[in-house]
Amino acid sequence: MSKDPNKKLVVLLTGASTGLGLELTKLITQQPDFHLVATARESSLSRFAENHIFENDQLWLRPMDVLNKHDRDNVLKEIRLKLGGVDILINNAGYMLRAVVEHVAEMERFQQMDTNFRAPMALIRRVLPHMRRSRRGHIINISSVSGMMAMPTMSVYSASKFALEGASESLWYEVRPWNIHVSIVQPGFIHSSSYLNVKSSKECQHSLNDPQDPYYYHYNSMIPFINKVMELTPSTPEQVARTILRLMRKKRPPLRVAATWDAHFFFILRRFLPRSFYHWFLYRSLPHIRQWGSRN
Ligand SMILES: NC(=O)c1ccc[n+]([C@@H]2O[C@H](COP(=O)([O-])OP(=O)(O)OC[C@H]3O[C@@H](n4cnc5c(N)ncnc54)[C@H](OP(=O)(O)O)[C@@H]3O)[C@@H](O)[C@H]2O)c1
Repeated sequence: MSKDPNKKLVVLLTGASTGLGLELTKLITQQPDFHLVATARESSLSRFAENHIFENDQLWLRPMDVLNKHDRDNVLKEIRLKLGGVDILINNAGYMLRAVVEHVAEMERFQQMDTNFRAPMALIRRVLPHMRRSRRGHIINISSVSGMMAMPTMSVYSASKFALEGASESLWYEVRPWNIHVSIVQPGFIHSSSYLNVKSSKECQHSLNDPQDPYYYHYNSMIPFINKVMELTPSTPEQVARTILRLMRKKRPPLRVAATWDAHFFFILRRFLPRSFYHWFLYRSLPHIRQWGSRN
């Protein structure tokens, strides 16, 4: 993508201190042609040192809570003044809210949408002027298989990733005239400890422990199922990070990238099965589905 072969491409990465973000940080800092600005919440910055990651000529570590405009402005201003601007933006920060639709309070819904959708949009708005002027750039939004298919108990998480995908698709058309690329990366289940970071809504936490709650079986079937799949899947954050690095180097990066084997599998399933059969098939495959709905 670089016009001047000696200029390092400036990469801005969010949520870089754990999971996929941390693996991306380790991988990108090994590449001589990138200058990485790896960001994390102030409270999480110490994890870099714990992982033996320290600042150097081509790596900056900066605090950024993606929900905090002041943090976003600070990092972007410093990049603009010292490095010119962002060439590749990787919107990785995000979390998963566990709750059925009926169990999500308004503030919980806002927080999920703000983190997974509105914050990436805010960053994109800020990096585009430089990309337009230099007539190059790459926006990489980390979505999920949940951005193409929705699972029960993950309603607003799915909504946030569907929103991210919709806006990314519009953006793909809008900025193509300036040679700016947009990619949506869809990992499926990843073998990592990130399921420990899944947040449950207040009502979900209550329901989980109350066998009389109408949604008790929904949660108590889905949680062990998801944990098991995450434990058994061969897909790792390192592998997804390598896929993203390859994407960063592509001359014509694709809009959508299925980043794990199950993402490919579900893509094929969704594309080729008749819609009504697809939904019926997935419904019948849900763990202990016969128990769901046994309470009112
Ligand atoms: N793990 C999976 O199976 C999976 C599957 C599909 C898609 N994804 C997506 O992949 C991306 C990375 O997830 P992961 O698997 O690496 O999970 P992870 O280990 O939980 O990492 C998520 C990162 O996002 C950061 N983050 C959350 N809220 C933030 C905020 N307000 N400001 C700044 N950083 C914030 C977290 O920081 P703190 O440590 O400070 O909380 C953490 O570093 C996410 O967008 C996720 O939706 C993951």
